[in-house]
Amino acid sequence: MSAAPRAGAPTFAALAERHGTPLWITDADAVLARLRELEAAFAGLLHGVRYSVKANSGLALLRKLKEAGAGFDVVSGGELARCLRVGVDPGRIVFAGVGKSDAELAAGLAAGIGSFDVESADELDRLAALAEARGVAAPFALRLNPDVDAGTHEYVTTGTRRNKFGLPFDEALAALRRTAGRRGLRFHGFHVHIGSQVTDPTRFAAAAAIVAERIAATRAAGYAVSSLDFGGGFAVAYEQPAPPIAAVAAAVRPHLAPLQVELLLEPGRWLVAEAGRLLCRVVAVKQTPDRAFVIVDGAMNDLVRPALYGAWHPVELVAPDRAARPVVLADVVGPVCESGDFLAKERRLPLPRAGDLVVVGMAGAYGTSMSSQYNSRPRAAEVLLEGTATRLVRRRETIDDLLATELDG
Ligand SMILES: Cc1ncc(COP(=O)(O)O)c(C=O)c1O
Repeated sequence: MSAAPRAGAPTFAALAERHGTPLWITDADAVLARLRELEAAFAGLLHGVRYSVKANSGLALLRKLKEAGAGFDVVSGGELARCLRVGVDPGRIVFAGVGKSDAELAAGLAAGIGSFDVESADELDRLAALAEARGVAAPFALRLNPDVDAGTHEYVTTGTRRNKFGLPFDEALAALRRTAGRRGLRFHGFHVHIGSQVTDPTRFAAAAAIVAERIAATRAAGYAVSSLDFGGGFAVAYEQPAPPIAAVAAAVRPHLAPLQVELLLEPGRWLVAEAGRLLCRVVAVKQTPDRAFVIVDGAMNDLVRPALYGAWHPVELVAPDRAARPVVLADVVGPVCESGDFLAKERRLPLPRAGDLVVVGMAGAYGTSMSSQYNSRPRAAEVLLEGTATRLVRRRETIDDLLATELDG
């Protein structure tokens, strides 16, 4: 474990000293390098990237991605507001989500976003009515449910018939027929997203083959299809290796290349997971007959993935003498009052001591964006690493922040 997030950058110890812990450290350059790698893998096929804001919605990161040419995939009025706050071109925003409210649809119309990715016939009707009331035509894609099992955790599987997302093709076509000619609607294509952390490229290929067939059928029915948003879901290497992005591109290319559509991709995790770390300080070490509990100041309210999905994150001790420490079997846990509050389980680690620093890696996706105030714990601060410089981009919440929305007291 090196002493700093990058050679020449402030050390973990210096960052902890300056900003306190737990502290998110987000490597902006690593995110931008991934963006370039993605664009290269899909060269000749890709019209644009729509970064999935839910993975990590920090304004500073959104601004960086915007400056690098990305567009954005949002799923709420709040995420839309974040993009607009950093000056994203609304034409590069797509709005997905299975339960968009009228207020959210209206906010998208007011902003003039590039696409509403519609997930039900009811949503399409509401969108049409709202657009017509404004005297505009809403650009929309229909989200197809291809009934392809992505082979990932059931909580992040989104493209099977058992999932709430999207429309079966026959219903999508029926909705298109029913609303054809409505002034408030402008159909441009399809959207599909089969799940997250999809480690098997053949699952993407299966979805691509189905969507290609659906596009052909839609055209045969007389509707022009000019775009396809193929979603995100590309896997990163947590505990297991992940396929290179070039392998994913190679798997879908034969199906997507002949389609003559503007292809969008909306990865979240793949762009940001590796770029994020959660720096924690050891509060205490508790040795039981069974194992050591390394109790740190970061917890499930900061990084919920281990508790929510049983997710694995690399955890390393930052200590100059770590090689000299005895190796123990340890659970790295937080102070929250749940046995589900762990960051790592049954790891062999050099024995930490109170006051040491521990780095939880691969924490850039669904880390800050899923963090909460559970146990009335203020949310952590965040620094952005650019080159060898770091800058505070999210201040640590205070107790006053915790109480700010409550009206009694
Ligand atoms: C519609 C949609 N697009 C993109 C994503 C991003 O997925 P990932 O972070 O796995 O790339 C999600 C995540 O669930 C999603 O629901």
